[in-house]
Amino acid sequence: MAEASSQIAAGAPIVTVNHVSLDYRGDKEPLPVLADVSMTAGRDEFVAITGPSGCGKSTLLRIIAGLTKASGGDVGVLGSPVTSPRKEITMVFQNFVLLPWRTSLENVTFALSSRNDLSDAQKQEKAKGALDECGLSGFENVYPGELSGGMKQRVGVARALATDPVVMLMDEPFSSLDDLTAERLRKDIYSMLINPSTSVKTVIMVSHNVEEIIELADKVVVLSHRPAHVAGEVMVDLPRPRNKKSEEFFGWVDKVYALLS
Ligand SMILES: Nc1ncnc2c1ncn2[C@@H]1O[C@H](COP(=O)(O)OP(=O)(O)OP(=O)(O)O)[C@@H](O)[C@H]1O
Ligand SMILES: [Mg+2]
Repeated sequence: MAEASSQIAAGAPIVTVNHVSLDYRGDKEPLPVLADVSMTAGRDEFVAITGPSGCGKSTLLRIIAGLTKASGGDVGVLGSPVTSPRKEITMVFQNFVLLPWRTSLENVTFALSSRNDLSDAQKQEKAKGALDECGLSGFENVYPGELSGGMKQRVGVARALATDPVVMLMDEPFSSLDDLTAERLRKDIYSMLINPSTSVKTVIMVSHNVEEIIELADKVVVLSHRPAHVAGEVMVDLPRPRNKKSEEFFGWVDKVYALLS
């Protein structure tokens, strides 16, 4: 799929979300979570989704990943519908979700277990390469319990990258880290993902941290209160690297806050 995606022009949609709605089955009556959500993520685009707490951001990401089925509407990736998890779509979670009894290397190779096209040696090599890319060479044989939060999330990203994804989904990937660690990881992850040498062609990140969003995103999709619809979209036209202390930066932060209120 990496080959197919490389033929897509810059900005052309890779992910399309069309009129997606979702009702969870509640105890007594259905809980409407997503009302009518449409958005796209284009080639080489870093898209952030934000919105009030509990409005359905994680649910939307899970629908894009093919992990949850929409009640209405559809999601397409590279022009074909997403009805179940696909190998070109991967996800990084807030709480890392690593297997504590497996080393960093084993956690990453585990993500490749269904790849029948690779030998065990090739899986190991690929996993080592991904760990190295995420700044973890030398930590291959360490267990998650011995790693700091930032390093655990690096393993999470390495695990996602090792599968050669085209679409990288991230659900609040920095929110459980301290500020300094998060800052460093944001910079590293941005340059890792938006880099022609990786398979990743588009990134969708859920975050409630508006400054983090303006630091990273090309486009911000702001969701309304539940049941969520798109309250507005902001194209962040700020040169990179972005100066988080500039007046211009805070102008963009304000634009997003205005849609959130
Ligand atoms: N599997 C489920 N079954 C029933 N209700 C659910 C389920 N998952 C989530 N919900 C409810 O759906 C709503 C949206 O949840 P979701 O986790 O998508 O929101 P969110 O925007 O990611 O929230 P947060 O800001 O807390 O991360 C919430 O009210 C939540 O309680
Ligand atoms: Mg969430």
